[in-house]
Amino acid sequence: MTRNYKIAPSILSADFARLGDEIRRVEAAGADLIHFDVMDGHFVPNLSIGIPVLKSVRAITRLPLDAHLMIEHPERYLKPFVEAGADSLSVHVEVCADLPAVAAAIHALGARAAIAINPETPPDRVLAAAPHFDMILVMSVHPGFGGQSFIPDSLARLRLIRADLDRRGLALDLQVDGGIKADNIAEVARAGANVFVSGSGIFGHPDYAAIIRRMRQQATA
Ligand code: DX5
Ligand code: ZN
Repeated sequence: MTRNYKIAPSILSADFARLGDEIRRVEAAGADLIHFDVMDGHFVPNLSIGIPVLKSVRAITRLPLDAHLMIEHPERYLKPFVEAGADSLSVHVEVCADLPAVAAAIHALGARAAIAINPETPPDRVLAAAPHFDMILVMSVHPGFGGQSFIPDSLARLRLIRADLDRRGLALDLQVDGGIKADNIAEVARAGANVFVSGSGIFGHPDYAAIIRRMRQQATA
């Protein structure tokens, strides 16, 4: 199956003192998207970056900005994130009561809508709401921190979700986030993922172009 494969460096693992330079380097190295992790210290036990940083990042890259909102009450922040320059917003199913409404609100702002799901959350609500979204984000670690190990059960979850989408003729992007490296990306692609977030796997490597090229080759092999 030929899919549109995308490599999305997560800037959570970048050097924040040199963030503009890090983003320019992954852009020059062939990244397809910039994955932007937002944490509120409630939905996840960590804090990260938010709207002012996204606005500054928007000014220095042409790449689509993919904001992963690991926050409670995400509906309160959709507009400020899109106004700051986000091209897609991922909200977590665990904190959204009305999935079609949140997808419609994101689309009304002109952005792409994604629904994110944690490792322990049953996928039924995500699958039921899939026609409203452009992408499903499967967390392959417990969200909150970069540099964790890929949870092997995620492969079965990706397969199940991709099979269900295919059965219904839904061509959503399927994004995987957490512990993705050059040595497991092929397996993850075979399980049905086509958008690969990688933080430590890219920013922890000395040569961004070489590692992104290798990841792309492995994913499409
Ligand atoms: C984790 C974040 C991820 C994180 C991935 O909560 O959502 O995007 O940056 O980092 P790695 O690739 O190092 O697991
Ligand atoms: Zn993320």
